[in-house]
This record gives sequence, C-alpha cells and structure tokens, in this order.
Amino acid sequence: MDHFQYKNGELYAEDVALTKLAEEVGTPFYVYSRATLERHYNVFADAVKELDSTICFAVKANSNIAVIKTLADLGAGADVVSVGELKRALKAGVPANKVVFSGVGKSRSDLEYAVKAGIRQINVESEEELVVLSDVATKLGARMPIVLRVNPNVDAKTHEKISTGKSDNKFGIDWTRAVEVYQRASNMSGVDPKGLACHIGSQLVDLEPFRAAFRRMKEMVGELRSLGLDVTRVDLGGGLGIPYEEDETPLPVEYGKLVVEELGDLGVEFEFEPGRMIAGNAGLLVSEVLYVKQAPTKTFAVIDAAMNDLMRPSLYSAYHAIVPVFEPETDEKVTYDVVGPICETGDTFAKDRKLPKLASADLVAFRTAGAYGATMSNTYNSRALIPEVMVSGDQYAVVRKRVDIEELLDLESLADWQS
Ligand code: LLP
Repeated sequence: MDHFQYKNGELYAEDVALTKLAEEVGTPFYVYSRATLERHYNVFADAVKELDSTICFAVKANSNIAVIKTLADLGAGADVVSVGELKRALKAGVPANKVVFSGVGKSRSDLEYAVKAGIRQINVESEEELVVLSDVATKLGARMPIVLRVNPNVDAKTHEKISTGKSDNKFGIDWTRAVEVYQRASNMSGVDPKGLACHIGSQLVDLEPFRAAFRRMKEMVGELRSLGLDVTRVDLGGGLGIPYEEDETPLPVEYGKLVVEELGDLGVEFEFEPGRMIAGNAGLLVSEVLYVKQAPTKTFAVIDAAMNDLMRPSLYSAYHAIVPVFEPETDEKVTYDVVGPICETGDTFAKDRKLPKLASADLVAFRTAGAYGATMSNTYNSRALIPEVMVSGDQYAVVRKRVDIEELLDLESLADWQS
C-alpha cells in the first residue's frame, strides 16, 4: 500500500498533484511520501513487536536526511556502511547508540570515527578488520561493542549482484571459522563481542533462505554459549523483497513470525536492517517524455530521466512499473522501449513495454523507486543530480535541490601547465 494514487484522473503523491511538483522543480525528480515511509516502518515494527529489537534502517537504500529523520522520529536506528552514511544518520537525529556500522572495507580512519562517535556496534566482517579495530579502539582508550558478521553460506536465490550470503561472496566471516574468531575477539583489549550478524542478500522473495540462515545462527549462538562466551545480540540484516511487478512477496508479518519461530527463545536483543521494504514503495521517479521516436522495428519513448538517475534497470535488468501521470482515457496500449538520453544502449528502462499511448511532454512515473534510486544516481554524461521532494499531506518540500552543472564544473580545475 502506498500513497501515490490517481485523483480526478491525475496521479498524486498524498494530496499533492505530481504536475504541480513538476511545474515547481522541473523534471526529472524523485518524490517521497512521508505517510508511506511511516506506514512501512510501522508495519515492520509491528511484525517484530514480540521481539526485543532495534530497527536500523539501511541508509544505503535512501540516504536523504529528511527520509532518515522521518524514520528516526518513529524510533528507527540506522545501519550504515560508510562514514558518509554515519554522518547523515547522526545529522538526521538518529541517536549514536542506535547506529550499527557494516561493510567489508572499513578503513582505520572510518573505524576511528565510529569508535569516537560512540555508536551502538561495529559489525566486523573479517579477522583482519578485527585486529585493526581492536588496535584503533585500544589507542582511543575504548572497548568497542562488536558483532561478528558471519557468512552462513546460504543461497538467497536472488539476483547474483545482490546476493551476499554464499561463501564465495566477499561478505562476513565464514561460518565455520566464526566460533574461533569470536573466542579470539573475546581476548582482545579493544573490542567487546556482543553477538553475531548476518545478511544474506537483498530482494529475497522466498522465506526459506532466511530460515536456513537463522538456523545456522542459532547453532552458532549455542556453540558460543557452550564455550562460556556471552552472546546478547543477534543482527539479522535486511533483505525482505517487495513486489515490483504483480509478483507475490512474503509479508513482513510472515517474516516476523519466522524469526519468532526460529530464534524467539534465544534470549538476545535483535537488530534488523530493512532498507528496500521501508523505502521502496515510498518513492517515485517522475520524468517527461521528450520524443516518441519511430524506428524501423521499434517505437522508442525517449524520456528526460536516464540510467544515471535510476540505475536499477540497466544494472540488474530490474523491472519498474511505468505509469502515466494523467490517467489514460482509453485502454489502448502501444509497445515501447523506454529509453533515456545517455549515449549508450544500456540506457534503457524497459523493453517492449505495453503502455498507454505516449506523446511528447507527457509525464510518466516510475514506481517503487524510493529504494536504491537516488542513492545510486551519478553524473554520467555530465548530467547533474536531480532533486528529491518529500510530500506530507498537502505539503511538500524540496529535500535535495537540483544540482547545477556549474557546481560540478567548479570542482574541477586545469593543471598549472595548462593556463
Ligand atoms: N544490511 C546490509 C549489511 C546490507 O548490505 C543491505 C543491502 C541491507 C541491510 C539492506 O537490504 P534490503 O533490506 O534493502 O534488501 N542496489 C541493489 C540492492 C543492494 C543491497 C545491498 N545491501 C538494488 O538496487 O537492488
């Protein structure tokens, strides 16, 4: 359920017409619905309410500070993977003690920053990182709470580029070594091992891989405890899939039930790191049709958004529903390739997509663009970043302004010898 609905034949974000936003900020732009973000957070929180847990929103899914703040106001923590994301979370008002820091490549200075910031925990992904972290924290006179992110070697059955829990993926500490590493960590001066973490992938549309991973986690917790080691936290990562097409995906309530069933009696605090499930359906990308171009075998709808604005279709062949902002008057459909202006064929949003008839200057919206949309955008072809707008009821605010190309050019300079 989202709050992007047609009213009087026109698509609205809550109570604001998208045409009004397009006039105000120009196209293309992202628009987020605060009510949808809140609804999704509350649905997830409700699904895990039987468990003692902190919901750490995966900031990589949508890192706009207005989005993070909306969730922080409901009690969310944050899962961050860089100092940049950590700064965003703190700026948006997430208390440091609700921030977890994941990632395979945290540098010494990243670790130092996180220790000084007093965050809840660092999710350590290798023995090598453990050694550096302990050294960093010891020098700062701290004993940093950590969990070990384990790689449970479970196939998440998702797209290969977003699968993270197989032993040939770069993530986590191999589960067969985790107990030994935990023992080692418990004897280090700069770290305080609290428990384990896992995250096996994103956009999981089947609960069974989660079940397999959870069972492995439970086994490991048992083993650690039998060795007299303390385990008080388990971080279960994110990964819950959402419907992009008409596909069926597990409901958060089913996921919550599964956690309770498999791990409810562990006597630990849980952390969850949902990203897509909260932000995905809370955002649209709105774009204008520039040309409808007739080629010998295809009709191309050339729009003003491109792969640099929304990378998912070109990177993962991901499907995003594309809908016209004005509700069509007839059921007539035309088959289009929907493409952007970038100079490569990969700049294609949809192939052979049946859509209502389009014409130059029509507005279209990409659904389910609130997660991994703006955060993955870039400036390829010297296209500056597009604005993000948040709507709440009949109010709206530009929460990231459109970057001016001059601002990008100002970052560059000629070498001395070129003047
Ligand atoms: N926790 C960790 C450690 C992660 O690596 C991720 C996502 C999450 C949580 C959040 O997962 P979610 O609940 O959103 O599935 N760019 C890709 C998705 C990459 C996901 C990376 N990790 C896409 O557009 O599909």
